[in-house]
Amino acid sequence: MTEMAQNLENSMMQDIQEVLLSEETLQGIVQRIGAQISEDYRDKKLLMVSILKGSVVFMADLMRAITIPCRIDFMSVSSYGSGTKTSGVVKIIKDLDIPLEGYDLLIVEDILDSGMTLSYILDILKSRGPRSIQICTLFDKPERRKADVKAAYVGAQVPDAFIVGYGLDYDEKYRNLPFVGILKPEAYGE
Ligand code: IMP
Ligand code: MG
Repeated sequence: MTEMAQNLENSMMQDIQEVLLSEETLQGIVQRIGAQISEDYRDKKLLMVSILKGSVVFMADLMRAITIPCRIDFMSVSSYGSGTKTSGVVKIIKDLDIPLEGYDLLIVEDILDSGMTLSYILDILKSRGPRSIQICTLFDKPERRKADVKAAYVGAQVPDAFIVGYGLDYDEKYRNLPFVGILKPEAYGE
């Protein structure tokens, strides 16, 4: 365990089964994706859309790893259903401020799980006429996919376990962990 992890409050650390990705590993992932996006969108009009709240930490790091001009916006949706599973029914809580015509849209997500949430968001945003639309997800759980959604940029594939930290939460907790860890099943009542 790193010094940082040791300093974290025991009330968070006691719920972590295992550190899956360290701060250093996460920064390596962000730099790699940032460089790739900077190359791919050099002649485009990049608008990064962060899906709140899970992707804010990733978004904040990723936008600073991008070396070309870009704009950002935020969208908040709620998937009905609580706890660790998504229902697929999505409600827009906060919509984008920027009209999408002419933009090359890059949706920034924390984790692609069943894909139900992103599939719904994609349909809505496509109908607003952006020039192009792609997905950048920090994590991917491919074996759990239900909707046909593919990400152009994937930070890392993760096992089918519930992970928290670096923006990802369980019941709004653990988002401030600087690393990503597997949550102990007993911490979410399974
Ligand atoms: P999907 O609609 O099933 O793809 O759900 C995606 C959303 O569920 C993500 O944006 C997360 O908010 C949440 N989610 C899925 N798996 C995890 C996890 O392991 N930890 C934390 N949140 C998760
Ligand atoms: Mg989310």
